[in-house]
Amino acid sequence: MPNKFYITTPIYYVNDSPHLGHAYTTIAADVMARFRRLAGDDVFFLTGTDEHGQKIDKAAKAAGVEPQKFTDLVSQRFQALVNFKDSENLLNISNNDFIRTTEERHKAACKVLWQKMLDSGDIYLDKYAGWYAVRDEAYYQEGELIGGKAPTGADVEWVEEESYFFKLSKYGDKLLQFYKDNPEFIIPKSRYNEVVSFVKKGLKDLSISRTTFNWGIPVPDNNKHVMYVWVDALTNYLTAVGYPNEGSESFKKYWHENTVHHLVGKDILRFHAVYWPAFLLSANLPLPAQIVAHGWWTVEGEKMSKSLGNVVSPRELVENYGLEQVRYFLLKAMPFGNDGDLSRDKLVETVNADLANNFGNLAQRTLSMIAKNNEGRIPKCTDYVDFGWEEHFANIQNEMKNFQFQNALNEIVLLGNKANEYVDKQAPWALKKEGKLEEMGNVLYNLAEVVRKIAILLQPFCPVAANKLLDQLVIPQNERSFYHLQTTGYQLKADTGLPAPSGIFPRIEIKPMNEDLKVV
Ligand code: MSP
Repeated sequence: MPNKFYITTPIYYVNDSPHLGHAYTTIAADVMARFRRLAGDDVFFLTGTDEHGQKIDKAAKAAGVEPQKFTDLVSQRFQALVNFKDSENLLNISNNDFIRTTEERHKAACKVLWQKMLDSGDIYLDKYAGWYAVRDEAYYQEGELIGGKAPTGADVEWVEEESYFFKLSKYGDKLLQFYKDNPEFIIPKSRYNEVVSFVKKGLKDLSISRTTFNWGIPVPDNNKHVMYVWVDALTNYLTAVGYPNEGSESFKKYWHENTVHHLVGKDILRFHAVYWPAFLLSANLPLPAQIVAHGWWTVEGEKMSKSLGNVVSPRELVENYGLEQVRYFLLKAMPFGNDGDLSRDKLVETVNADLANNFGNLAQRTLSMIAKNNEGRIPKCTDYVDFGWEEHFANIQNEMKNFQFQNALNEIVLLGNKANEYVDKQAPWALKKEGKLEEMGNVLYNLAEVVRKIAILLQPFCPVAANKLLDQLVIPQNERSFYHLQTTGYQLKADTGLPAPSGIFPRIEIKPMNEDLKVV
């Protein structure tokens, strides 16, 4: 039975257009989903849009459009980036589903989850009086405010209303025990520590309904209230695998203790690592395997913000630099978990160094030497060199277990470096001149074989380019997984005829950003 792996991105608020931050999380999740599929796992990959709450209600009002219509429109901008019906799939994302919280299936799931928490005695009616930040859709305590604003810088407003509360305070010890028993529940470690110390300070009950607007899912049996948008939003992860139908095929398959991986930005860690497990405990449902928190991007050293006019759109990036290049750079540029900076110079430098000069050059030299000196056929090999690839592969698997994409890519780069050094040292062109055809054949074979391995390993990151490379090596579509990397019998076969080679990773030049494509 293949291992089950359920990976999610946060669902994105539809108050505005997608930007670099959204693209990053989605691409990182996609790389992980593709990696796990290549490793043989049964993967379910979910993304979608978060469409209720005060923030969306306000944005719809500001646009003068009914909230449902507004969310229909804005959700499309997110759908265009990923796999959704016949969308453009700008980022070539391999999600299995796309959820919208305004869908009926989701409303049904939220109602049942609410009822389960109520049945556990964890919901009561009271009055909320305190601060609320619409931008963050979060409640803040007086002591958390900095200069009259939320710690995130968002404006806060004083809210006093009747509200249902969730007995979060009841779950503090249970959560601490759970974190202790599952030290990998939150990665990186620094984030784990942050959550543990937050919970240790003591948890207050959480207001989980609102009455001052109605753009949300009504609370069962009390239509005056709509559910707090985070209760609604977090439930999406259950909805997509069939909840409340716990007997459904997909629910049974994907919702287990060790299957669910939520990828989130550091700003929404508390919701996922504290509130969400508490809701699930209350509803007697298994908890996720892991909450993986990533850092934030700045652009040319500055925080991305509308007021600075430096918000980068995914489309702008892809049109200026190419999708494969952007995907590669975003995961190579920073250790996963840290903050990172998008600088045009750095992007161009990284892409040229790794994709063009290392992998591209290696592939191009190998394939064109085979075309020129061996009639376009894979040569015979009598002396194998394997560049220690197995160790690199083992390291890649380890790094990917911890979502350390940068380190995983570094391993592929090291393998490419070794192969490039080998070409220079063996100088197959000279072997040809000296009439040492067997030696030349050996060198070209070993090179072509390491190019096959590199291409297989690069597939999650640069799916189109890596597969083009595999096409050039005439590798059948169903022989491109990690199984075919590790199992003897799938290495290149001597005498296979190859098509005329063509470049895969061109060098890119620094171009000014296309102003028209910026989201402002
Ligand atoms: N709707 C909630 C999530 C609900 S999940 C049940 C939400 N949406 S969001 O659209 O505001 O943000 C989605 C994600 O984008 C978050 O993980 C956030 O960290 C990420 N990013 C927003 N700006 C970012 C950067 N500048 N850099 C990296 N990621 C950033 O929160």
